[in-house]
Amino acid sequence: MKKLNKSIFVFFIICSFTANAQSNKMNDFINNLMKKMTMEEKIGQLNLVTPGGTVTGAVVSKDVDDKIRKGQVGGLFGITGPDKIRRAQEIAVNNSRLHIPLLFGLDVIHGHRTIFPIPLGLSSSWDTAMIKKSARIAANEATADALNWVYSPMVDIARDPRWGRIAEGSGEDPFLGSQIAKVMVEGYQGNDLSKDTTVMACVKHFALYGAAEAGRDYNSVDMSKVKMYNEYLPPYKAAVDAGAGSIMTSFNTIDGIPATANKWLLTDLLRKQWGFKGLVVTDYTSISEMVNHGMGDDKKVAELALNAGVDMDMVSEDILKYAAQLVKEGKVSAKTIDDACRRILEAKYKLGLFDDPYRYCNDQRAKTELMSQVNLEEARKIAARSFVLLKNDNHVLPLKKSGTVALIGPLADSKRNMLGTWSVSGDPEKSITIMQGIKNVAGNDVNILYAKGANISDDTEFIKRVNVFGEEITVDKKSPEEMINEAVETANKADVVVAVLGEAADMTGESSSMTHIGLQESQENLLKALVKTGKPIVLVLMNGRPMTLTWEDAHVNGILDVWFGGTEAGNAVADVLFGNYNPSGKLTVTFPRNVGQIPIYYNHLNTGRPFHPGDSPKFKSDYLDASNDPLYSFGYGLSYTTFSYSNISLGNKTLHPNGKITASVTVTNAGTVAGKETVQLYIRDMVGSIARPVKELKGFQQITLAPGESKKVSFTISVSDLKFYNSDLKYVYEPGNFKVFIGTNNRDVKEADFKLE
Ligand code: NOJ
Repeated sequence: MKKLNKSIFVFFIICSFTANAQSNKMNDFINNLMKKMTMEEKIGQLNLVTPGGTVTGAVVSKDVDDKIRKGQVGGLFGITGPDKIRRAQEIAVNNSRLHIPLLFGLDVIHGHRTIFPIPLGLSSSWDTAMIKKSARIAANEATADALNWVYSPMVDIARDPRWGRIAEGSGEDPFLGSQIAKVMVEGYQGNDLSKDTTVMACVKHFALYGAAEAGRDYNSVDMSKVKMYNEYLPPYKAAVDAGAGSIMTSFNTIDGIPATANKWLLTDLLRKQWGFKGLVVTDYTSISEMVNHGMGDDKKVAELALNAGVDMDMVSEDILKYAAQLVKEGKVSAKTIDDACRRILEAKYKLGLFDDPYRYCNDQRAKTELMSQVNLEEARKIAARSFVLLKNDNHVLPLKKSGTVALIGPLADSKRNMLGTWSVSGDPEKSITIMQGIKNVAGNDVNILYAKGANISDDTEFIKRVNVFGEEITVDKKSPEEMINEAVETANKADVVVAVLGEAADMTGESSSMTHIGLQESQENLLKALVKTGKPIVLVLMNGRPMTLTWEDAHVNGILDVWFGGTEAGNAVADVLFGNYNPSGKLTVTFPRNVGQIPIYYNHLNTGRPFHPGDSPKFKSDYLDASNDPLYSFGYGLSYTTFSYSNISLGNKTLHPNGKITASVTVTNAGTVAGKETVQLYIRDMVGSIARPVKELKGFQQITLAPGESKKVSFTISVSDLKFYNSDLKYVYEPGNFKVFIGTNNRDVKEADFKLE
């Protein structure tokens, strides 16, 4: 044992010696380089441009090649492929004075060419190993396409389904969000950034972007520090702790100051408290947008951003324009510019670009690795695991592999809408639609009939807004009435109706906030007509946000939420519909009954007048006209089998601060097919120095059970699971009583109690 300890010690000494030697080598290299750089050249490194490709604002960078030659560009985003990237890199390496290579970034959000489910869908798998794998594959493809920097993961906690960008994150919970943030960073970066298959991750959007007021994109955020620290900041911190190489500022204000000028956020919290050593990049033109925020003119906002801790300016070019002047005037120190420049050069060094600026430009890899068969097979499996079965009355699902299926709806055969928002390098033409998937999977004994039935929407103004990136909402030549009649006739000929309804891909994502989050009227009318046929109806819902489905829930027989499942989604949907895969997804965000309930999330604080069903409601915290309950709550999701929970037990009734308690439960597959269950552990701190949430997720485990099989699932609880930030923002635990809940979602749980000494 002693011998082992000694060899571990020697191993660590060798590791830290090697790490120090590497970092000394990097410092020497960068010191030498920076000695040769003029102030203008250092400032040039701080400039991130896009020649087009992914334009998410009013401005596109101009004279890009010329600026690269002049040493006025540190990185470029929006282009892909070895040819284009080599060309731009050659300008930097051959034609700029100091030959400094460029960073090449892109929004690789849920896959690069092979597209996986949107992040909200991925999170619904609760399968962190699988999510990591999706990031690994994305990094492989991105690097095969010559990129070295991805603008992901987006780790913003989001609790407002009106906000279109809820699609891009992992939902409402800080614990799950943190686990996912960590594995995404690990998946992208691996353990060595200089490998030609790893990319630098960029955590975004720092910070609190998901809490935009009224769910309107880019809107202000106002939040107490206690809420920030306990509920919104943990995923960013987890990503930083996982070693993320970069972080992107958000568009919103925090405590009245835009994130991009927020020194408390970018320097005190991020760098000093969290020890972040990577580079801070702004979001698209978020420096110049601070003029609109009322922070000053272009020069002033550049000063604010630099002094707050921004290293790299995405597109605004205010730093390029004003930094030298600001240094001369003593408004920004030369050291601030040096520090920012150093961080960018460090990133390039770690990515191995100084050794070989073209290390990611490999034509062979581009040919063999993009959308490879292996990647597509993974995409199909991953997609199936992201789907959430919301309703399944009388086992309407899985469908029989015989008989007649009426496949109806504007999304049933729409390649354009399979990939979802932020799939900039995905090719919709290569995506498998649900119709195609059903044909591939159902077998010869299933007769498939099809009718479009409705347009996604009939509202011409709305259609124009949604179709900015292409025709996602197509308007049929037939009138809405004709389409519905045709759909009803088709349904009448079938044994079961599969209605594929929901949102077009860009009804969520950036700048896609909505106040109506139910089905569009055209689709509502269609569904009502289909229900009238009396046929069993399965609603397959494509969506990037929680939708209000109160009527649908009451009237259709089955609902399968398939989000936007990516390139292979059609096959994966068919796999689940026909029972080749038993659905196992669970919601990571609450589905409200109506928009008036928003914000609604499971881990809320209690009020002094909580309403419990059965109580007299007067003077209780509730609504006169609606229930407090969501339609589908966090953690909810059905399976083709049922899992029963019994025998919750705690190893001990008291927890010593240095000790541990084991909480166990027995889970039994009480149905007739094998299934995968996500067993969820929640804790409630009964009394605290600040009001504490009614429940908080603190653990989960996935198990697969054969019919009739039981397993004991155990969780270990220690004080680290009970800690929170108190009103002095100290991370503490407080002795007292706690409740433990274990169950299949946050509401259907078994309970036990313990006391922390
Ligand atoms: C704006 C978006 O907010 C951000 O998420 C994205 O990475 C950048 N544009 C770059 O496209």
